[in-house]
Amino acid sequence: MSLLRIALDGPGGSGKSTMGKLLAKKYNFTYVDTGAMYRSVALYMDRHDIPLDGASIDVERIMEQVHLRFAWSGDNQRVFLNEEDVSDAIRTSRNSLLTSRVATLPAVRQALVQLQQKMARLRSVVMDGRDIASVVIPDAELKFYLDASAEVRAQRRLEEMEQNGVAAQFEDVLREIQQRDYEDTHRQHSPLVRVPEAIYIDTTSMDADSVFNILCQHVECYP
Ligand code: C5P
Repeated sequence: MSLLRIALDGPGGSGKSTMGKLLAKKYNFTYVDTGAMYRSVALYMDRHDIPLDGASIDVERIMEQVHLRFAWSGDNQRVFLNEEDVSDAIRTSRNSLLTSRVATLPAVRQALVQLQQKMARLRSVVMDGRDIASVVIPDAELKFYLDASAEVRAQRRLEEMEQNGVAAQFEDVLREIQQRDYEDTHRQHSPLVRVPEAIYIDTTSMDADSVFNILCQHVECYP
């Protein structure tokens, strides 16, 4: 198979990262979790007490100090921020909400998009995010938009948290999902959009195997 770049866009909890990892494993593609990149920058800013007020921060300088690396540990991808494993620290509720705000900063987006485009240049990739088909790889060979109702996405997120031993209330998780949906679709720069050519999959009443089968059919039918 020649170079194949797969864009996986959609709101949080729609199953992008699960599907991205499965596809990468099956077809030996590089999996790029762009959300983890934005989350890591947000964590760095939070830890360094950097205010989000665009006028007073030097985002270019911050981005020079942020070094990201991904590594596999079994079926899980770990994220390293300046060589510290931050895979769990970036997924807290506080950091999730902060990330949606950090993701509005054009200089952050510019730096991360450049990095993502570099990663997609040499190898077949499956890249999950919000702006992959619209901005990062507009000429991707395959574009998918995964979706699901906010309630189902919140339920999935809750189960994931419970598996990781984190207690939470459904209403709180749902509120966080809805707030992030709003911020991600209403921001000025690179909002979450569904490009017209993307293959739309509503996973609300589907199990993971069914979604994965559909994705694989498209990959295997690709000329
Ligand atoms: O995918 P995940 O839920 O980990 O993404 C966390 C946040 O990062 C999103 O809510 C969004 O604000 C931001 N993001 C983005 N562009 C991407 C990926 C994530 O703005 N390509």
